[in-house]
Amino acid sequence: MTSMFTMVARILILLVLFHHGYCQIQPKSCADLYMSNIVRQSGEYTIYNNNNQPFQVYCEFQHGYGYTFISPATRVNVDIANLVTNRSHVLVRDRRKDGTQYEADLSQITSHKNTPLSIQYNTYTSYREIQNPSMGPYVYVGFIPVTDTHLRGTEGYQMDGQDLTFTNCDGNSNSYFVFLFNAHGAAPSSYNPTYALMQKQWIDGARALPRGRYLPDAYFSFFEMHFGGCGAYGTPQHLPQVSGAAVGLRYDISCPMPVDVTHATKSVSSTLVGGHVTYTCDLGYTRAFGDLTQTCSPTGRWTGLTPSCQSFPCSSHPCQNGGLCFEIEGSNYVCECTESFSGTHCEKPNM
Ligand SMILES: *[C@@H]1O[C@H](CO)[C@@H](O)[C@H](O)[C@H]1NC(C)=O
Repeated sequence: MTSMFTMVARILILLVLFHHGYCQIQPKSCADLYMSNIVRQSGEYTIYNNNNQPFQVYCEFQHGYGYTFISPATRVNVDIANLVTNRSHVLVRDRRKDGTQYEADLSQITSHKNTPLSIQYNTYTSYREIQNPSMGPYVYVGFIPVTDTHLRGTEGYQMDGQDLTFTNCDGNSNSYFVFLFNAHGAAPSSYNPTYALMQKQWIDGARALPRGRYLPDAYFSFFEMHFGGCGAYGTPQHLPQVSGAAVGLRYDISCPMPVDVTHATKSVSSTLVGGHVTYTCDLGYTRAFGDLTQTCSPTGRWTGLTPSCQSFPCSSHPCQNGGLCFEIEGSNYVCECTESFSGTHCEKPNM
């Protein structure tokens, strides 16, 4: 009886411990999944928001970086800052009515290249409101903020490195792509399209994807793209070859800033994957153990061991004129001079 009780109690304790441990390692991003070294295969995964609520994402893993696509079935809050580390561009996929998929990199036009894209979930802070607010939740990608758009300004977006611009005709400050998950099946707004070239260049100029890189169909949603003042307004209603679009948010894996090592200087080429840190021991010190050069690996860790530089008095070559240096008692040394020299450092020629 007692042993039965003990066994049940043990199992319960194990279950509690397991569950507790499991909660602590809940991944919050595709980068977390990749760095945990458990998965390396692009595909659909469950990650968690800051309140530990799960949602589905498609992770496209590349070496040292990747893209996160949020499932349009998501109904919990998404802490977007956990997913995006690089706001220089987004990857936009579109799905054609024939089932094929295409992609294009969208970024700022050259004149605004130092303004990061603004990627927001269900908000549009510093940008213009969308035309289909009832079709949320949504991922908002803001290009030029309201305060930087002007009547007669040159505005637009860049596709795969090519500027697509227009001249703002009335001061309206729309400058966004938005991807709408339409939780309640709302009907699209009847807002008039603007049939400019820019409205569909990101589709006509997109790259065809090989089938092996296709996103599940369920990841494509309704979208709006809106620029100007005479730029473009387009939704799947106005772009008949397209059935939906999806936005890939870029993350880059990086290593923490390498630690300082006493009696050494460090030089860091980059903290991104493939970057190096090189330690150089100060004069009079040499490496006792560890690695003087380390590389940032795709797991977000530096390769090798932190080095230690220890005082080896002879390493500063204190004995002159061909004298030999011998270490004594750890940090001291004596010089053994050749026949023609003498002195502590063999500095005096013998007469
Ligand atoms: C961000 O992405 C760009 C590619 O658009 C890349 O060249 C750059 O190194 C990335 N920056 C960081 C800090 O990861």
